[in-house]
Amino acid sequence: MGHLPVGPRQAVLPSLLVTDDQLADAARRFGTPLYVYDLNKVRRQVARLREALPGARLHYAVKANPSRALLRLLSSAGLGAEVITLGELERAHRGGFPSRRLLVSGPGQDELLIERALELEVGLVSLDGISQWRLWRPFIEERVRQAPATTALPRFLVRVNPQIDPGTHPHLATGAPISKFGSTPAEARVLATELRTNGLLAGFHFHIGSQISSVDAYRLLGDLCSELRDEFPDADLLDLGGGYAVPGFPLAEFAEFATALAENLGLELLLEPGRYLVADAGVLLTSVRHLKAGPVRHVIVDAGMADLLRPALYGAAHPVRRLGDGGSDTHARTADLDGPLCENADRLAAAISLPVDLKPGDLLVVGETGAYGMAMASNYASSLRPAEAIFDGDELRLVRSRETVEDLMRLELE
Ligand code: LLP
Repeated sequence: MGHLPVGPRQAVLPSLLVTDDQLADAARRFGTPLYVYDLNKVRRQVARLREALPGARLHYAVKANPSRALLRLLSSAGLGAEVITLGELERAHRGGFPSRRLLVSGPGQDELLIERALELEVGLVSLDGISQWRLWRPFIEERVRQAPATTALPRFLVRVNPQIDPGTHPHLATGAPISKFGSTPAEARVLATELRTNGLLAGFHFHIGSQISSVDAYRLLGDLCSELRDEFPDADLLDLGGGYAVPGFPLAEFAEFATALAENLGLELLLEPGRYLVADAGVLLTSVRHLKAGPVRHVIVDAGMADLLRPALYGAAHPVRRLGDGGSDTHARTADLDGPLCENADRLAAAISLPVDLKPGDLLVVGETGAYGMAMASNYASSLRPAEAIFDGDELRLVRSRETVEDLMRLELE
């Protein structure tokens, strides 16, 4: 199974539409660590996907970045949303997504999520397995009993685990045989039959993994999709999930494959991009605190694994540069970029090139952090989660305040 690139990847950051002077201004005004998102870059990604896949319904995977500013932009651009928790459902709702454009999925749906989803009258639900349907069923029956004429029930997708190797980091391989997600093709058929009998079957759902950089993994789904199409001719939707790597996803090749598959089978295509829409629209700004010599040169910054977990958890390599250097690495020296916490995994990058004249107070830009950055930030070691700001064109706004010590204490009872 393939892995995310581990170790040095000192690519030059694709230039943000905002300038380094503007980023420096954001850091000055709001402090660091600070996540900054460029809405024009998100708009550009929406346009790219729409242009490549004109017939597809796009549902943004909210887990990638649930910032309300992004949700508002994506809902007003006409996208739907894919949510897996009550919190995400509520955020998507308040972020302006019409309920009929909401898709509830995930392996742990519970009664609270189900009740709220039915109350909002969400359009689609993806069922992970038969036991999940058993949980939904009484709620659906109750709703039909109470308001048979007016209630808008969701339509259901059956999530299938195709048991393939999607060629990504093991943590992110959700369509692998050992993965907990979805049903075996045999169980999926039983569940789909029951849903069809109740007139609730919309189609089948595959989300085989994340940070996938080859279309080959998706091609492995072709035969199974067409078998299921033959067996369930009344299903009309094919959800191929998300998973498109940043950087390096061959969008045109994927679009050709996915469009042809859906067209040949006479199905409407639904996709759930998360990372692809927002990763490259975000950077994490962090300040250098200390420099330490030794067998390994350590640059200690004010952001670490509590602010950006991906390097520690997946060995992910995010591009790093000093603000104002424009990505040039002349006069570079190799160093680890370490966070402020007390464990070795608290490292944003290993053995990367940083300028020799780097000094405390310098600002660094950690790129491709618009997805699964702030979304996975934690209060580990009582860290205060970073602030978030957006640029909409030239206009800079703080969209989430930096946490305070009072926020840390807020829920403690004694
Ligand atoms: N649909 C479903 C059902 C998903 O579970 C996910 C992501 C997506 C869509 C969106 O996938 P994307 O297009 O963003 O790859 N924390 C990890 C990523 C975990 C993704 C989980 N599911 C990371 O930082 O790489």
